[in-house]
Amino acid sequence: MVNLMGLDRAACIDDLRSIAKRRIPRFAFDLVDGGAESERNMRRNSAAFEEVELTPRYMVDVSDIDTRVTLFGQRFDVPFGMAPIGMLNAFWPGADLTLARLCAQRNMPYIASSAASTTLEQLAEAAEGNGWFQLYVSSDSNVTEGLIARAEAADYKVMLVTADVPAAGKRDRDIRNQLAVPFRITPQVLAGLIANPRWSLETLRHGKPNIANYADLLQSATSYADVQKTLITPGFTWDDLKRLRDRWKGPLLVKGILHAADAVKCAELGCDGIVVSNHGGRQVAFGPPTIEALPPIAKAVGGRIKIILDSGIRRGADILRAKALEADFALSGRALAYGVGAGGAPGAHRAMEILHLELVRALGQLGVAAYDDVGPSALTSPL
Ligand SMILES: Cc1cc2nc3c(=O)[nH]c(=O)nc-3n(C[C@H](O)[C@H](O)[C@H](O)COP(=O)(O)O)c2cc1C
Repeated sequence: MVNLMGLDRAACIDDLRSIAKRRIPRFAFDLVDGGAESERNMRRNSAAFEEVELTPRYMVDVSDIDTRVTLFGQRFDVPFGMAPIGMLNAFWPGADLTLARLCAQRNMPYIASSAASTTLEQLAEAAEGNGWFQLYVSSDSNVTEGLIARAEAADYKVMLVTADVPAAGKRDRDIRNQLAVPFRITPQVLAGLIANPRWSLETLRHGKPNIANYADLLQSATSYADVQKTLITPGFTWDDLKRLRDRWKGPLLVKGILHAADAVKCAELGCDGIVVSNHGGRQVAFGPPTIEALPPIAKAVGGRIKIILDSGIRRGADILRAKALEADFALSGRALAYGVGAGGAPGAHRAMEILHLELVRALGQLGVAAYDDVGPSALTSPL
């Protein structure tokens, strides 16, 4: 039984994370919760949001708060969407479809990862027109083209090309947990299964999670290195991005931009937007938090292409901080994943509700009735 009482008492995303931690085996929890090496970048992502101060203004009518946003011709009810997460069904069985369906219900974008544990076609159907497609560029161009063709056929309108994986991130927790793809039952895994019967039963019911879009290709993989080669390539360059721009007819975004000069190149190549992202601190420990990377990027390309930001968002006010620094929209990865881990669909719903209600409250407190109207003037120290 889902512990609804526990979910009701969850006041914030961190509470949902604590609940999820209690009901998920360690190796599966760490798969989502962990970051690269020392995890400095991951910690800094959230800490840096705290440093961005906004000054409330009063005697403004905020009785009608509007959080709607129009992006790439579509009207969404909230200014955030679900970030692409690979292999999320290993965290909580059925997580992908649960989140895709909820995004449709709540009218927010759901971004289907190339590495999802559910096929692109099933996710497109569940997201009911709110699905965007995230592409990992493979070292095999046939694999890349196959995915793009499938995304087109499934009627995804927006494609995000992830740029920040020239090499796989080194995640110390996964190494310690001896995590392997495809999954192997080690004594540590077995202990986790026994200690978390609900997770284990659900996993048995849903079947062993895999990287669904590459299931056939990965069957012949004999090592983790084989898996990586199928998924990503260290040889991905601007020329390849240009080819992808020509290939994809709809809006194209580049995900994982941290430098203003790279943002400018994306704009020059005709991309429609970028996601200022460090992959939630999962790629490197030494990089900047995204909220600190944002201002020079916004200065360079703001107004020309759309700027979306992710990595470290745990509060509704973080979305306003990003907007004050001139991001147009936000994505959330772990915050919504913790919700589904804490309590399946009701838990994911609770996570979305927490972020939305915090955002509505923060807008009222700030004295700005519409999300669209938040800008640099809200900053205590204007740019
Ligand atoms: C477990 C996990 C898997 C991820 N898989 C992908 C992926 O397949 N493709 C991708 O572009 N980003 C992936 N990301 C990065 C997210 O899309 C997003 O950038 C990140 O989660 C944002 O940080 P946050 O989790 O602090 O919100 C993944 C993140 C996590 C936590």
